[in-house]
Amino acid sequence: MDFKRTLITTALPYANGPVHIGHLAGVYVPADIYARYLRLQGRDVLMIGGSDEHGVPITIKARKEGVTPQDIVDRYHKIIKDSFHDLGISFDIYSRTTSKIHHDTASDFFTRINDQGKFVKKTSLQPYDAEAGEFLADRYVTGTCPRCGAEGAFGDQCEKCGSSLNATDLINPRSVLTSAPITMKETTHWYLPLDQYEEALRHWILDEHKEWRTNVYGQCKSWLDLGLQPRAVSRDLNWGVPVPLEGAQGKVLYVWFDAPIGYVSNTKELLPDTWEQWWKSPDSRIIHFIGKDNIVFHCIVFPAMLMAYGDGFQLPDNVPSNEFLNLEGDKISTSRNWAVWLHEYLQEFPGKQDVLRYVLTANAPEAKDNDFTWGDFQTRNNSELVATLGNFVNRAIVLTHKYFDGVVPEPGELFEIDKRALAEIRDVKEQLTEAMETFHFREAASKAMEIARIGNRYLQETEPWKVAKTDLKRTATILYIALQICGDLAVAFEPILPFMSQKLCAMLKIGTPVADVAEPKAPGLSWDMIGRDDIVKAGTKLGEPVLLFEKIEDDAIEAQKQKLAESKRLNEIANFKAEPQAPEVDFDTFSKCDLRVGTVLECKKVPKADKLLQFLIDDGLEKRTIVSGIAKYYQPEELVGKQVCFIANLPSRKLKGVTSQGMILSAVNADGSLSLITPIKETTPGAKIS
Ligand code: 2FM
Ligand code: ZN
Repeated sequence: MDFKRTLITTALPYANGPVHIGHLAGVYVPADIYARYLRLQGRDVLMIGGSDEHGVPITIKARKEGVTPQDIVDRYHKIIKDSFHDLGISFDIYSRTTSKIHHDTASDFFTRINDQGKFVKKTSLQPYDAEAGEFLADRYVTGTCPRCGAEGAFGDQCEKCGSSLNATDLINPRSVLTSAPITMKETTHWYLPLDQYEEALRHWILDEHKEWRTNVYGQCKSWLDLGLQPRAVSRDLNWGVPVPLEGAQGKVLYVWFDAPIGYVSNTKELLPDTWEQWWKSPDSRIIHFIGKDNIVFHCIVFPAMLMAYGDGFQLPDNVPSNEFLNLEGDKISTSRNWAVWLHEYLQEFPGKQDVLRYVLTANAPEAKDNDFTWGDFQTRNNSELVATLGNFVNRAIVLTHKYFDGVVPEPGELFEIDKRALAEIRDVKEQLTEAMETFHFREAASKAMEIARIGNRYLQETEPWKVAKTDLKRTATILYIALQICGDLAVAFEPILPFMSQKLCAMLKIGTPVADVAEPKAPGLSWDMIGRDDIVKAGTKLGEPVLLFEKIEDDAIEAQKQKLAESKRLNEIANFKAEPQAPEVDFDTFSKCDLRVGTVLECKKVPKADKLLQFLIDDGLEKRTIVSGIAKYYQPEELVGKQVCFIANLPSRKLKGVTSQGMILSAVNADGSLSLITPIKETTPGAKIS
């Protein structure tokens, strides 16, 4: 069916921290590409976003910092909103779930479903802190992990061994609030009986939406095959949308009940008079962009809520969920600070928004988890954005300035090679359009780059810089065609690289200049322009050539790798657990060990052994050679003249051909690195350690 309107929603990020590249690759960059593409197609589109400001993690963070939950969400809502804006994410609205309109809308959802008698009320036992007089969310219960024995596991998960837990599984469960042992107390909540919607959901997804991504369809199928259970939609908590009923003091709507309603409230906030068209009219369609951990909520729970609510709300047409993005081979983790944070990236790589957008798209985790590495970031920038795209555009524009004073020349008769280039572009456009329509944005990035490759090949084959020596008319045609290809690139890449497109449009004098790249409207370009031979008009005086991309040097990449290495180191230190003490030894056994201090006279690397350093030590009696496996942590020169501790009376042994007479002592750090042991005060070589 031909839809008149497309409502794009983007998962509402929790306002308890900034957003990172995992969020961007999973949700916001693909959603923005799709919204921009539809705008270029002249289609009616809304892109809705906002911060998810309720839920237990926000209250925990506030408590830790000694501030209110409102302080926390105010802080992160601003950081998130500003950073999305600066990356050019073109929301029609980016609002928040603490807004009045959201509270009213979420309350109305609850009330209407409740008034229709569609909730089930159930009483159950929940962890309770009698001292504080409060029910405890799972995260507020701590104790010993029943699986690995770690202290400080939480009622939902042990962070040490990763096991999912229930608060009652913990050994000695205590309240995080007061450290009091928890008791179990009866409490009543409202449940959405998902089981009653199972048949309808099964038919709607499994029969009617076979076109959904395999990962999404597969996850829904396994949930449905397991059989759905009623889900509580309220919690005992003092932060959130209060349950709008008499006698429900201290109860709020569960964050996963109110968050997706945020899409509706934000549409209402933007379009108070016409919002219903977007949600209820059969010629509108809804697309949810989310990460894979949100699939069940968007494909099962929220649709069941909409069915229960009724009143003409439509279900989503597609839910193009992505898999996860890893970072340098490891899972992105907020708590371990293993992430590239958007607001930091924007500061550290000013003007390079499109590089990140490109890399996250070209390497998007669409069908499987994928890895972001700084090495790949540099390569894609230097060899694709700079050497392929930037280089082509630069050549076309610089040559036009050189031979035609920067005025787009009138073309002469087209040769076969010119027609072929244009035809190739029309072919690529078809594939690019198909990729955009079907949410294959990785493929779209590769097809758009193919246009630049066609352009480079065209210039390589036609060699206008040579032709110009004898035939300016032919040169005019070649450059005219090359400039049309630049125009194709400005349009084809606009969804992915809007900052580049803005600069390129300014050089080519096409489109309408945009003051703010994040503004949600097509910049006077249209998708139809791609493949046409008159995008850039003859006679136009081009703008001055500016470089679209610049090379990223090794030191910038090295700095990022160092930053991650530092996160890893700090984590290892934070998680370091000293080994249990070794069994006792008697004093005589210990005193047989001859421990001494020596001064390093010489130190050098052992050839063909990466780990070994060879020391010559003044041990007070003579000079002795000791080989030690610390080459990764020290440079030989920095150790000469230093004092070290060693065991003097071990039997000699040969290491890589060198006879070692003893063992130098070092401490093993949390990250496995070694620190040499040295006396705090300088001492005489040969001094015994006792
Ligand atoms: O997983 C998350 O980050 C949630 N805050 C997403 C909510 S999406 C929607 F329902 F609002
Ligand atoms: Zn554990």
